[in-house]
Amino acid sequence: CGIVGYIGRRDVAPLLLEGLQRLEYRGYDSAGIAITGRSGELRTVKAKGRVRDLEARVPKRFAGTTGIAHTRWATHGAPSDANAHPHLDAGGTVAVVHNGIIDNASELRVRLTAEGTVFGSETDTEVLAHLIARSQADTLEQRVSEALRAVEGTYGLAVLHRDFPDRIVVARNGSPVVLGIGEKEMFVASDVAALVAHTRQVVTLADGEMATLKADDFRTYTTEGSRTTATPTTVEWEAESYDMGGHDTYMHKEIAEQAEAVDRVLRGRIDDKFATVHLGGLNLDPREARSVRRIKILGCGTSYHAGQIGAQLIEELARIPADAEPASEFRYRNPVVDPDTLYVAVSQSGETYDVLAAVQELKRKGARVLGVVNVVGSAIAREADGGTYVHAGPEVCVVSTKCFTNTVVAFALLALHLGRIRDLSVADGRRIIEGLRRLPGQIDEILKAEPEIKRLALHFADAKSMLFIGRVRGYPVAREASLKLKEVSYIHAEAYPASELKHGPLALVEPAMPTVAIVPDDDLLEKNRAALEEIKARSGRILAVAHQEQEKADHTIIVPKNEDELDPILMGIPLQLFAYHTALALGRDIDKPRNLAKSVTVE
Ligand code: G6P
Repeated sequence: CGIVGYIGRRDVAPLLLEGLQRLEYRGYDSAGIAITGRSGELRTVKAKGRVRDLEARVPKRFAGTTGIAHTRWATHGAPSDANAHPHLDAGGTVAVVHNGIIDNASELRVRLTAEGTVFGSETDTEVLAHLIARSQADTLEQRVSEALRAVEGTYGLAVLHRDFPDRIVVARNGSPVVLGIGEKEMFVASDVAALVAHTRQVVTLADGEMATLKADDFRTYTTEGSRTTATPTTVEWEAESYDMGGHDTYMHKEIAEQAEAVDRVLRGRIDDKFATVHLGGLNLDPREARSVRRIKILGCGTSYHAGQIGAQLIEELARIPADAEPASEFRYRNPVVDPDTLYVAVSQSGETYDVLAAVQELKRKGARVLGVVNVVGSAIAREADGGTYVHAGPEVCVVSTKCFTNTVVAFALLALHLGRIRDLSVADGRRIIEGLRRLPGQIDEILKAEPEIKRLALHFADAKSMLFIGRVRGYPVAREASLKLKEVSYIHAEAYPASELKHGPLALVEPAMPTVAIVPDDDLLEKNRAALEEIKARSGRILAVAHQEQEKADHTIIVPKNEDELDPILMGIPLQLFAYHTALALGRDIDKPRNLAKSVTVE
């Protein structure tokens, strides 16, 4: 979900709506705004659906210079006008927007109802509005912290109060809150995306921190009330990088930007003399790096898939046993936390709750955790002992493309770095460096094949279900390509190791169930060809992604060859375009697939 707030001198409604547009990728089931009207009264407008639906409902006369707003991704209660934020108490004195989940909301609801409170929605958030409204403490800050002491759960929240019209009070525990510091105006948002058009000076709240924003002043403090120091930092990303830059969708723009993005993650890191790379933020000296016995990579969704390729790169280049696991699974299975294992948390946003919680649990148990993260200063980046930023730039489309590619490249750098401290030869180090340098040019070459890939997408767009296969290096590529197609086109897609075809999926093969096969020119080429034969013999249609024409395939997308270890970085890229054009042909909402959100900051 997304939060935005403003206090200053400007007309607030247009500012909030614009901020919500920029945050819409975080949730788009419903949206709403609350403002402090001219005579101090709180006024709200809410709408089920998109920000544009909300905009249509905002009355002509809706003047005010202070307000908060929200775009929602439903967790408690279906998407509806009533469940949209902001939530107010029955008397309309308090308005709250909230990201996260209040775990004890049902108990509090029962208690408050018994005491006569009337609820207007099914949400957990409304509980907060009532608790704050009931508090008799002197200041709004005290009232909010009193309410927060009664709740268990996670929150990023912003509060308006009719009796304290000169301020917005915000708080964070597990869900991001960023303050934007302007000239005689202050902003707050759950994501810098909503701020950069107005200010690049930001303060990111830590868990357990609160802040008060007034038009020309802000202060931060703990929930207990003791002051904390907050020095604004400058956001690197430009406002323009959040624009579509001439493309019709963010997904298309972000696919097209990949050569440039890869160039950025490599820049300034390659050391030709010693055939290695420097990763400044790693915080791991050579002795520590040599003593690592295992590497465990944790992430969710596309980042988890990037971690799977990362694990292979680490095993191949550094010869350290490595594997990836969904962070959400890991944290609930009481994992054995081993002092010789290095843990790596992967996340585009740096805010995914399951990943953050896994990191916190690991740290509590004394493990060493690195972050491979895109958003600078995000919670996971801050929580980790060190790590590397992937420098993909802002990614807005809900489905991840350029950040996936950059994350895998960042893993290649980490693998090379660890390899050169351990047993990777200078010659192999040079070979990988040369391969990395070829990537941006090769990506552009792949993207030139878009018209042909589009034709293939149209050809297969009638499929109800598709199988994606690959072997060893190709398998995580198949998994990510299948996820991409599923997320954005809603066509069912399943990834399988090509080696496991005979153990089940062959039963599904028929002309109506096409297969996409990842067929790199490596030592498994013949094995992969045999899998294509098996499918062909059952009249399956095949689209191969390969380094050379595949005779058994009905269609082959040819990608340029790199080093065997780095081929997975390139082989998925045509399939991003394939997913994109399939979704376009089917009229899908490409940047905002149904039921999904970009950052899942709840469990
Ligand atoms: C959501 C998004 C995915 C993303 C995943 C992990 O499910 O829809 O695109 O891969 O979260 O997000 P993260 O920010 O941690 O990489």
